[in-house]
Formats: sequence, C-alpha cells, structure tokens
Amino acid sequence: MRLLYFALSLALTAPALFAADLERAKEIVENKCHHCHGRDGEGSSAIYPRLAAQHEEYIAKQLADFKSGRRKGTMNEMAADLSEEEMIALGQYFAAKPPRSHRIRDQELAAVGYYIYHKGNKFSDVPACETCHGSQGEGTIQLPRLAGQHKRYLADQLRNFGNRTRSNDNAIMHSVASRLTELEIEAVSLYVSGMVPSGE
Ligand code: HEC
Ligand code: HEC
Repeated sequence: MRLLYFALSLALTAPALFAADLERAKEIVENKCHHCHGRDGEGSSAIYPRLAAQHEEYIAKQLADFKSGRRKGTMNEMAADLSEEEMIALGQYFAAKPPRSHRIRDQELAAVGYYIYHKGNKFSDVPACETCHGSQGEGTIQLPRLAGQHKRYLADQLRNFGNRTRSNDNAIMHSVASRLTELEIEAVSLYVSGMVPSGE
C-alpha cells in the first residue's frame, strides 16, 4: 500500500516538475537568449547559431562548456549564472522547436558540398561528414544536428575548429576541419544549410 502511494505521488509530481522547468526555460529565453537565437531558436542573424531542433544533450553540454570556459566566446557571459537544471531545461525547450532550412541559390557550389558531406575527400583524408553527423545532417545525442544551420555560422565553426579557437572536444573536428580547403568549407557549409531531414 505504501509502495502504491509512493508510485502514485511520483506520477503526480514528475509532470509538474517537468512543466516548471520548461516555464523557467521560456522565461530565460524571453529575457536573454531570444535577442540572438530567436524565440523559437531560429537564429536572428547568420552569426548566431540556430538552436531549433538541436539535440538537448548537445545544447546542455555546450552551455556547461561555456560556463566553465572550456568553450570561449560571447556565450561565456550568457551561461555564467545558469544552473545545471536550467541548462537541461533550455536544451529541452529548443530541441522541441521545429527545424528550418535555407533555400540554396548556388547549386554548383552546393554540389561540391554534397560530395564532401557524403563522400569526403580521399585525396586529402577528409572523412565523409555523414559518417558521424548522419546522412540527413540529423546528428545524434552526442553529435550536433547540422541540417538547416546558418551557412555563416557553420563556416565560422569549421575555421575555429581548424585553428583551434574552438577547443572544447575539438580533437575529431580539428583533424577534419584542418584538412578542408576554403572552397570545401564554403561548399559544405552551403550544402548543409539547405539540408532538410526527411519526415520534417
Ligand atoms: C549576444 C548574443 C547572444 C545571446 C544573448 C545568447 N547567445 Fe548563445 N550564442 C551566441 C553566439 C555568437 C554563439 C556562437 C558561439 C561561438 O561562435 O563560439 C552562441 C552559441 C550558443 C550555443 C551553442 C550552439 C552550437 O550549435 O554549438 C548554445 C547552446 C547557446 N548559444 C545557447 C544560448 C542560450 C540558452 C542563451 C540564453 C541564456 C543564449 N545562447 C544567449 C550569441 C548569443
Ligand atoms: C568522426 C566523427 C565526425 C566527423 C567525420 C565529422 N564530425 Fe563534425 N563534429 C563531430 C563532433 C563529435 C562534434 C561536436 C564537438 C563538441 O561536442 O563540441 C562535431 C561538431 C561539428 C560542428 C559544430 C556544430 C555546432 O552546432 O556548433 C560542425 C559545423 C561540424 N561538426 C561539421 C562537420 C563537417 C562539415 C564534417 C565533414 C567535413 C564533419 N563535421 C565531420 C564529429 C564529427
């Protein structure tokens, strides 16, 4: 009987806690994050990453890295007073927003990007991006979703990985990005910005 009561009280309180977290996340977004990332994580300018549909674990991890200073930039100040619970809630908030993608005009450049993304460049030992980020750019819980991200942000991050300005968990992406030429960085970023995962 006591066990039943315990199970029942858990079932009653768990959804309430969850809702409270998302309310808190919404409040933080409306006070701060929306200026740059947009209310729905759409990214108000091409230099601010889109967070919509990004994996919640990845978002929470990046926020923790910004807070600790492992990843450096504008975000250090933004993440400074976030608690772990708030980081998780913010991850859930943005992960639930619908993804978007960009319309691509330069199809020839995008075709070079398609090749790099799906096949890599065997002449310079660049692995196909899809082996980790997925054939639709959807990522996994350990790996960021890339599909539909702003081209400018993607290209900036690839350069940052290449020259080690982005140094949190950079081992893999440093070895990938440091082998890309400028043409390849521009092309793969353009292609990825237009990717739309199927079923969305
Ligand atoms: C003044 C503009 C600004 C504000 C406000 C801001 N951000 Fe950011 N955010 C950025 C920039 C710029 C980057 C890219 C960081 C870089 O290039 O190192 C970023 C990156 C991120 C990333 C990493 C995304 C990725 O794909 O790796 C997350 C997560 C994030 N911000 C969440 C937030 C949250 C949550 C808030 C509110 C608490 C917030 N940001 C407020 C500018 C901002
Ligand atoms: C062996 C696995 C692997 C391969 C191959 C790979 N990546 Fe990554 N990539 C990662 C990991 C892991 C991260 C996350 C690093 C972190 O947690 O900070 C990442 C992060 C990124 C980011 C940052 C996203 C963001 O939101 O800030 C970009 C952009 C990116 N990769 C592009 C590419 C491109 C383009 C290629 C192909 C040329 C590629 N990656 C190939 C593992 C890989």
